[in-house]
Amino acid sequence: MATLIDGKVIADSIRSEISSELRQIMQDRAGAPRPGLAVIIVGSRKDSQTYVRLKQKAAEECGFISTVIELPETSTTEEVVTKVQQLNASAAIHGMIVQLPLPSHVNEAHVLEQISPSKDVDGLHPTNVGLLHTRGKAPFFVPCTPLGIMELLKRSNVVVSGKRAVVIGRSNIVGLPVAQLLLQANATVTICHSKTVRIEDVVREAEIVIAACGQRELIRGSWLRPGAAVIDVGTNAVTDDTKKAGYRLVGDVHFDEAKAVASCITPVPGGVGPMTIAMLLNNTMTGYKRSLGLM
Ligand code: GUN
Repeated sequence: MATLIDGKVIADSIRSEISSELRQIMQDRAGAPRPGLAVIIVGSRKDSQTYVRLKQKAAEECGFISTVIELPETSTTEEVVTKVQQLNASAAIHGMIVQLPLPSHVNEAHVLEQISPSKDVDGLHPTNVGLLHTRGKAPFFVPCTPLGIMELLKRSNVVVSGKRAVVIGRSNIVGLPVAQLLLQANATVTICHSKTVRIEDVVREAEIVIAACGQRELIRGSWLRPGAAVIDVGTNAVTDDTKKAGYRLVGDVHFDEAKAVASCITPVPGGVGPMTIAMLLNNTMTGYKRSLGLM
């Protein structure tokens, strides 16, 4: 039976490490500002609103100043860009994110390109993406979910170097960057996607499986190599009338089957999700410390 990788417990300890570090800085530097995180949300998607609320609450609990800018669904690309540029210019803001997805009429790539790479705590600006994927270079920031996955592996004592890792999914925000981080940690990495033939045969090779394809319970227990470490990034809502919300979240991995085969596995919810938020705080703290000349 797999051991559970408790993302909530690990994220909580990272969050308390960050708030202790901030307390120490504020003590050592009289008059220092607090770290400032800005989140832009466009429109009223319920899931995005929930994520943004969680990010804001976490930032405040850590002692940060959190600013949420809510723009209407009808905002133009130019209106979103204007807001980004104002935040770029504000000395009180050390990190900003634009919650994705944006409404389809807004040019997402153009908006992301306007974020100053040194405030891009989501690591999605092409400069940061390019630096991440260049040997010998370091981006200002690495995307939060991939960073959180690497931290989960590290704090769960999963050895990455020399291992075969399979990433299922090739998104800009998770699949591609996590594959790169695993490669940098000396894993041999394969990326699978919707056109991969006999995907189960590829997954069965892997000692480390990262599921980030957004397909409910796609990865079955029979696909896994016994003893694999399984990280499930999926958050798929399924109708469940027994829940107050009317739905529950399930991962991209068939959890009950997988836990009988894997050596360790993240649950959904309570696995990767809390780590994404902890890494957003970590990245904002990094931006803050750079602004104070501490890094
Ligand atoms: N939408 C879903 N996940 C994320 C994330 O990590 N960052 C942003 N900006 N939008 C998201």
